Amino acid sequence: MKTNRDVVNKKNILCIGAGYVGGPTMAMIAAKCPDYRVTVVDINTQRIAAWNSANLPIYEPGLDELVRTVRGRNLFFSTDIDGGIRDNDIIFVSVNTPTKTFGAGAGMAADLQYWEKTARQILENSISNKVVIEKSTLPVKTALAMERILNSQPNGISFDVLSNPEFLAEGSAIHDLENPDRILIGSRETERGRSARNSIVEIYARWIPRDRIITTNIWSSELSKLVSNAFLAQRISSINAISALCEKTEADVTEVARAVGMDSRIGAKFLNASVGFGGSCFKKDILNLVYLCRFYGLEEVADYWDSVVNINAYQQERFIMNMMTAMFNTLAGKRICIFGFAFKANTGDTRESPAIFIAKRLLEEHAEVVISDPKALDNARIDLSGRAGVLDYREDPYEAAAGCHAIAVMTEWDIYRTLDYERIYREMAKPAFIFDGRNILDHAACFRIGFNVYPIGKPSLTHFES
Ligand code: UDX
Ligand code: ADP
Repeated sequence: MKTNRDVVNKKNILCIGAGYVGGPTMAMIAAKCPDYRVTVVDINTQRIAAWNSANLPIYEPGLDELVRTVRGRNLFFSTDIDGGIRDNDIIFVSVNTPTKTFGAGAGMAADLQYWEKTARQILENSISNKVVIEKSTLPVKTALAMERILNSQPNGISFDVLSNPEFLAEGSAIHDLENPDRILIGSRETERGRSARNSIVEIYARWIPRDRIITTNIWSSELSKLVSNAFLAQRISSINAISALCEKTEADVTEVARAVGMDSRIGAKFLNASVGFGGSCFKKDILNLVYLCRFYGLEEVADYWDSVVNINAYQQERFIMNMMTAMFNTLAGKRICIFGFAFKANTGDTRESPAIFIAKRLLEEHAEVVISDPKALDNARIDLSGRAGVLDYREDPYEAAAGCHAIAVMTEWDIYRTLDYERIYREMAKPAFIFDGRNILDHAACFRIGFNVYPIGKPSLTHFES
């Protein structure tokens, strides 16, 4: 069958998947390209309703204002996926690709069922040529599977599959989308592939300098995304590994990171020791990389990257063991306040947040847990639902800490830096402890107030006789 439209309509864009990536990215494209019509669809009707309401489904600084400017003008949110596919020739796919929980590759490989379902849905509903763009992070060669599914029926429609991974970080998504370090677009190195790629370059070139838009072959593009995240996570695991050594040697990890980071070959970013990295990407992407390496028989390479994830788990368990040792080898019956549940500041997202692990371990040790967070309490309730033990949720940090034996700082929210710790100390059980999993508090000041203070990778400050 020859299609009624065999030229791609470049001004209508669809995005399948209205999550942390799809929503903000499409809002930015709509804002920067007012002559394009951008539609975002999702199977989750509640999520779409929220995108169409005053209460957006995700918290991201600057997102509300951005969406308010473009929604109803040239940005639309809808549940009509089939109609969206029919009416749009440029289709971004940003559905979730979580780690598989079952069968071959469980715990390691990406679960591609949502992705494949989307590919089939695109095929079934297409009546014109399409450019399909992978936005979700995917294992290398996923585009090939996508191409094979899309081209499985000789219906005269051509599909070009591109890779355009998103590098935005949550909490700074709007800034990152507006000023990205680079835009990466991978395609087949064929005439058609290059032409499809150019239609996407045209979109980004509206606000991003050309020299920051790089085009590559499609496999390099897919792999670059995994490798970028693996390198970032590796820096955190490296400094976290050193934090353990600092705690044994009276070195201070912040001073070490500063000295090391001033080497311009190394750079200062992503060297903040912490209770561990979280977020939907780092662990998942590294495990993906590890799985890929094992698949190709590269055991040593797989082990190398696996160790980045292992150190992250070690750092979280070490945090619990430090709490336990400091608090006289038992946490049972003690009330512990968790400051911050989001995986990082300025987001309500809790996916893979170290706070989940810490809260669960504290409950296993029969501690009572009070959780405070300015944006993530709804997600915290979901993450910890069904957990046995005493669990309380309080948005107000003063209320949360009152009567507690210890505070564990899990998220680097600014508000925790400026609280009245004298007031907090007065209302806590004594001796009072602070375990600063983000090294954001003024440790000397907290110590002077009366707290026993345990930072990451620095000598502890305690009022106990040694
Ligand atoms: C990451 C990548 O940065 C982004 O490019 C990619 O698109 C998605 O994955 P994100 O997970 O949103 O973004 O946040 P990021 O700022 O990278 O932080 C990840 C985790 O590392 C957080 O838990 C953060 O608190 C932690 N972190 C970060 C540290 O513990 N120390 C640091 O020095 C930096
Ligand atoms: P990310 O952080 O990568 O954006 P999210 O989980 O926030 O991931 O968003 C992915 C979105 O994709 C979710 O809103 C989910 O409902 C949606 N989704 C998953 N499968 C499909 C599908 N087959 N069709 C449409 N949307 C889908």
